[in-house]
Amino acid sequence: MQTTLSIIKPDAIKKGHTEEICSRIEGQGLKIISKKQLQLSKDDAEGFYAEHKGKDFFTALIDFMTSGPVQVQVIQGKEAISKYRDLMGNTNPKEAKPGTLRHDFAESIDANAVHGSDSVESAAREVAYFFPEN
Ligand code: RTP
Ligand code: MG
Repeated sequence: MQTTLSIIKPDAIKKGHTEEICSRIEGQGLKIISKKQLQLSKDDAEGFYAEHKGKDFFTALIDFMTSGPVQVQVIQGKEAISKYRDLMGNTNPKEAKPGTLRHDFAESIDANAVHGSDSVESAAREVAYFFPEN
């Protein structure tokens, strides 16, 4: 059993894909055990993506992640981290396979619809970041 953090990013929320994305996650046999919508501040977004600080895309990433509400959610299930990463598809939607969330719902590498933790360690940090009560 693993736990991972998923974010439905501002582009997907604005386009009304939230429910469809959640039902695709559940279609993989994964459970969404907590969810909440919130507007990230610049500090929230910079802290969350601290590993990317200093990279050339960092400013664009923070501007995008604060451009509207996001839905943060905790997903649980067998192999949840890799299963959900596979469902998301390639970071660049143009290279993502049909049927993946980024292929089907995203337009660009900046506005790429969803986030998912990439390791057991990052999942633990990211779940605690948004759901400190858990
Ligand atoms: P995420 O963290 O959002 O789930 O995405 P990821 O693991 O697939 O990709 P990551 O390397 O962690 O990058 C975080 C986000 O930064 C933007 N990015 N832009 N222009 C670029 O080369 C570039 N590389 C990354 C993407 O929006 C990516 O989701
Ligand atoms: Mg990442």
